[in-house]
Order: sequence, then structure tokens, then C-alpha cells
Amino acid sequence: MNINSLDRKMKSISALGVGVKATLTVGADDWHTVAVPRAGIRSMTLCDGPAGIRCEDPTSASPDNFNQHDSFPATCLPCGAAIGSSWNPELVFLAAAAVAREAKELGVDVLLGPAMNHKRTPLGGRNFEYYSEDPLLTGTIAAAFVRGVQSEGVAACVKHYCANNTERNRLTVDEEIDEDVLRDIYLRGFEIAVKRGEPYCIMGAYNRVGGQFCCENERIINGVLRREWGFDGLVMSDWRAVHDRVKALNAGCDLEMPFQTKKSSAAVARAVRVGKISAETLDKSVWRLKRLSALTAAEGHKPDYDENYIISRRVAEESAVLLKNDGTLPVGNGKKIALIGGRAVNPKFQGGGSARLNARRVTDIMTELAKRADVIYAEGYTEGEPDADKFAAAVKAAEAADVVIAVLSSPSTDDAEDRDRPGIELSPGAYRLVEELLKTGKPVALVLQSGAPVKIPCADRVNAILETFLSGSGGGEAAARILTGEVNPSGRLAETYPLRYEDCPAAPYYSESPETMRYGEGMLTGYRYYTTAGVPVAYPFGWGLSYTGFEYSDLALTQTDEGVHISVNVTNTGKRDGKETVQLYAKKRESLKRELIGFVKVEVPAGRTVRAETVIDPEEFAVWHDGARTCVLDRYEVVAARHSFDEGLKKNFAPVMPLQSANINEFNHKGEQIWEK
Ligand code: GLC
Repeated sequence: MNINSLDRKMKSISALGVGVKATLTVGADDWHTVAVPRAGIRSMTLCDGPAGIRCEDPTSASPDNFNQHDSFPATCLPCGAAIGSSWNPELVFLAAAAVAREAKELGVDVLLGPAMNHKRTPLGGRNFEYYSEDPLLTGTIAAAFVRGVQSEGVAACVKHYCANNTERNRLTVDEEIDEDVLRDIYLRGFEIAVKRGEPYCIMGAYNRVGGQFCCENERIINGVLRREWGFDGLVMSDWRAVHDRVKALNAGCDLEMPFQTKKSSAAVARAVRVGKISAETLDKSVWRLKRLSALTAAEGHKPDYDENYIISRRVAEESAVLLKNDGTLPVGNGKKIALIGGRAVNPKFQGGGSARLNARRVTDIMTELAKRADVIYAEGYTEGEPDADKFAAAVKAAEAADVVIAVLSSPSTDDAEDRDRPGIELSPGAYRLVEELLKTGKPVALVLQSGAPVKIPCADRVNAILETFLSGSGGGEAAARILTGEVNPSGRLAETYPLRYEDCPAAPYYSESPETMRYGEGMLTGYRYYTTAGVPVAYPFGWGLSYTGFEYSDLALTQTDEGVHISVNVTNTGKRDGKETVQLYAKKRESLKRELIGFVKVEVPAGRTVRAETVIDPEEFAVWHDGARTCVLDRYEVVAARHSFDEGLKKNFAPVMPLQSANINEFNHKGEQIWEK
């Protein structure tokens, strides 16, 4: 948008006094912005979160996790870790639109999601909320979520910009990251989400980057986000993340949430009067608020809660990752199943903190499996101190059955905002329970409910392992449908499961109580490290089994004005229909073995061959080098692979980088249209 047309729009708000405009740049309360009806600016309602709407019910007595009112009942999607493992942007769009319809129904204008920070360490408390250890997968899923939310007239708010990769000392920790690493890893996902999703809002993170608080960081907001990427939407702070309101407004942070009462707005008004904030800066922020209140004003489609439950279940089905299977799964008809574990009846279906919601409906594995098979249940263990009698009852049930399915979750204190995980272990009793079950000699399948990588009990000795993550409202039914074969699992890991936490590349630099967190591992994060260093892992990024098999052939690459077309034959070698995610990696720089440049999830009927195709931006071959994103190699080895360690099919390719197009995206133009009405 050129500045002249912007000037024309400013006239319609410049009539407001500085004091009034200043109050608009600070929240009215925890969940609302200020209204100025005479200027056509509505008060907007902002609500969490990434897995469903958490909108406070002022009439509810029960406190939620913030000791405020609990929220209205809502459909709970599987957590971000699950959504990322679906590798299915189209489904994510549908799920986000479903959540947005519920938001609109409750009068919510801005949904505070997607949460999309990079997963730097499996100890990250909010890894459950985030999508992946790869920026392309993260950004692509986030962009789909944004478009889904905004397709229903609700604003999405991409968060937490940027580098909120630990909950330790999260309000002040200074993330020390080399420029190329910041650009290619910690900003790249946001860049993709902004350019391909066109979110109306972005939320600044609590932490500092390069010594500056994110919400006051001129370089990453006005510099990178606005001038380089062309983002002209609204930037808000995380809750109470602003320390200096004047500095934040000048850095490009339009709205301080929730509010520091009159202190901030008075500071802004004073600063404008003495020229520390230009009138234009203030007017632009007010204009963005007015435009947002116009973009989100329309009525929405009525939510269908049954349909939304089914969508939540479909995401859980497409996200679950079959890590191991010797044929024990799916459990055949007529088999007697010993279903063990308290989480089979009381699932850990969501994480803690601002993402936690009042789920309208939650299905459990026990109820759903009993509809489909002959099941005997014993709790065995949930967490805390093991109980010998419960162990004995579980072993007895196992001895009376043909197959054992044990349902285990990460500790209830894991997977929550504001605290990182102490380790990747489950509770001690889980390991002892599995040992006892294995002694019965019966086949044992594990079902995991975790928001981040865990050390899996007896992984080398159990017969099957299904990771279902924190799988939301439909998770119990989804798990039952997978376990009995109604659904063929198709999830692929979006985060490496290491053999030991000490193998993680960030482990040596992840300090205990950091004032400063030095990202010493640099670009060697996640599978970028393990594949380059040849460090073995429990289960690699991109890993996931199916109840059928797939083979690839005939990889081809061509380039047109549209982009780089990559296609490969995928043959289903088994007797069941299935979905396969073809992952495309390239060696983009000398220092790393391979990096994801594209992916496509395809459905392949039993015994058939499908041509999987995708078109990628040639920019995916580029890396941040000497202050710009450029291709540093002449030719690239491209691999079509089943996971990050898979040798796969290889082809060399020389992409042609197009001239840089203007960054002005559709959203800015849409903003103009709104204004002119
Ligand atoms: C929290 C979270 C953020 C959330 C906001 C409102 O502290 O960091 O994700 O949207 O505050 O609850």
C-alpha cells in the first residue's frame, strides 16, 4: 500500500484527539479492545486458543487455569504437535474454520492462534502447542490454520513472534541467536505463515531477541515483519509483555494487551505531544485497529457441533503416528483385548495454560473400543505411586486376553505453558507396568498420549506403538478406529523422538535458569542435526508406519513460472487403502545433509499407483546468506523420502530464482477495500 493512499485514510481518524487515539492502543481489559463508536471503531473480543475457543463465561463459578471464570463449552482440536503430524494443510484449514465458527458464535473477533514457534528442545513446555522442528512444515500448517480461521470472518493471530522456544524465565529470557539461524529457522516459519496465510494479527512474544524485548523490537517488527515481509496487519503484545509502551509503539507494536490502565495511554499521548512518537505512527496503529474491527464485523456461519466433533476426530486420525508394528495392530476380530491404563478412560486430551479449554465432548478409548471389540479393562497405572494391587489386576486381565493394549500419557505436569518439562521420561510406574505386562508373554501394543517426545517404555520389546498426542475431543474414538483397523494411520512425526535427551543438539546450551539462552547449536536443530551428525534416534522426523506399504518410483522435477514442479509415483504395495506423505528434501548448504523443501500427502488405493505432485517456490532452495535469501549452490540434490533418514529417490536440479516480487500482499489491498466502504 503506498503512503499517499494511506494518508487519505488517515484523515478519517485524525479528527480524533491524541488522548482518544492513545487509549485505543491499549486493551480495555483482559479480553477486549477499546471502542470509539463515533470513529466507527468497535470494541473487539480476543480469545485463545490454538486448539479451540476459550471464551470466558462470566456466569461460571469454577475458575479456569488463570483463576478466572471457566470458558464456554467448545470443541477441542488435537494439540499443535498432533496437527503438525497430520502434514495435511487442507484438513487443518477445515479444522480451523470449524473452531472459528464456534468463536464467531460467541462474539469473538480475534482467535489467539496459531501458536507456531520452532521446537528447539523436547523439554519445551509449549511444544505440545507448536507444530514442528521444521520451519517449512510449521509455516505451511500455520498458514492453513490462518486461512481457515479468517475464512469465517474471525482474525487469526499468529504467535509468539518470535523465538519463544522455552518457558524457563519466558518473560525476560534473552534469546541469543546468530542472524542466519534466526532467519532460516526461528523466523522462517513466521515468514511463510505471513506470506502464505496473510494473518490479520501477530502477537509479539514475551522474551527478548538480541537484547530487545520482542514487543519493543524495532528490527524484528518494523524491520523484518513490516518492511521486508510487507505485513501491514495489527501487532499486539502477549499479555503484559510490554515494558515500555512508547518504545513498543515506535517499534510497530500497535496494541498492548491486556492493559496497564491509564499509565500506558497517558505515556503514549505525552510522547506524541513532545514528538517522541510521530502523529503518523499513532494514526497508523489506530487505522489498523479500525480496519480490523471492520474486517471482523460480519456475522458468521452457525457452527454445527456434531460436525465439528467429527472434524476434530478426523484430525486425530490423520495425526496419530504408528511408530512400530509387528502386525499386532490392527487388532483382529474376535480377539479378546486387555485394555490397561487409566488414560484409556480419562484421557490426557489437551495441554495446560492458555490453550486449555472447556471441551464440549471428549471420547475415551475404553468406551469406543468396547463398541468395536471384546474388551476387559484394568487401570493398572495412571501416574504417581504405583499400586501393587492395580498392577496385579492388570496382569490378570492380560493373562486372560489375546492381546494387551496399554494406554500411557506424559505426566500431567508436562505439556503446559509457563513451565518446561524436567525430562522426556514418563512417570516411573509406566515403565514398571509395561515390564509386568511383557512378562505375561502376550503381545503388547502401547498407545501414547503425549505433547512432545517421550522415552517410550520397552520400545524395543513391545509389539506396537501408536503415538496419539493430546488428541482433543475426538481422540478416544479416533484411537479406537485405528486400533481396530477402521482407519489406517497416516501421521508422520513432526519432531524427532531421540533415544536420550542428552543426544538433543540444544541440550548443551539449554541452561537451567537462563537470563540469556545461547543458541549454540545454530542451524543444527532437530533432524538437521541428527542426519548431518549421523546420530541415531528412536524415531526420526517424518517417520510413521501404515497398515499397508508404499514404494516410490520415477522422481521428476521441472520449473515453470508457477514454480518447481516435483512429482513421483507412489505405489501402495498392500491390501489396504492408505495415505502417504512424500517428503522432499534438498542439500541446500554445505553444512547440512538435508532440509525439507516440500511435501505432499496423497491417498493411494490398495495395489494402485498414484502420481504425487507438488509445486514449490524456488525460494525453498535458498538460504540466508550475506543479508539476503539466496541460492548458494549451482545444483541441488533433491530426495523424495519417506522420512528424514530415508535415502529415498534422488535427482539433481538447478532452480532458477525469480526476480523478487513486491511484498504487498492481498491482505493490504483487502484492507483498502474495507476502508473505502
Ligand atoms: C498467555 C500466552 C498467550 C495467550 C495470552 C492470552 O500468556 O503466552 O499464548 O494467547 O497469554 O491468554
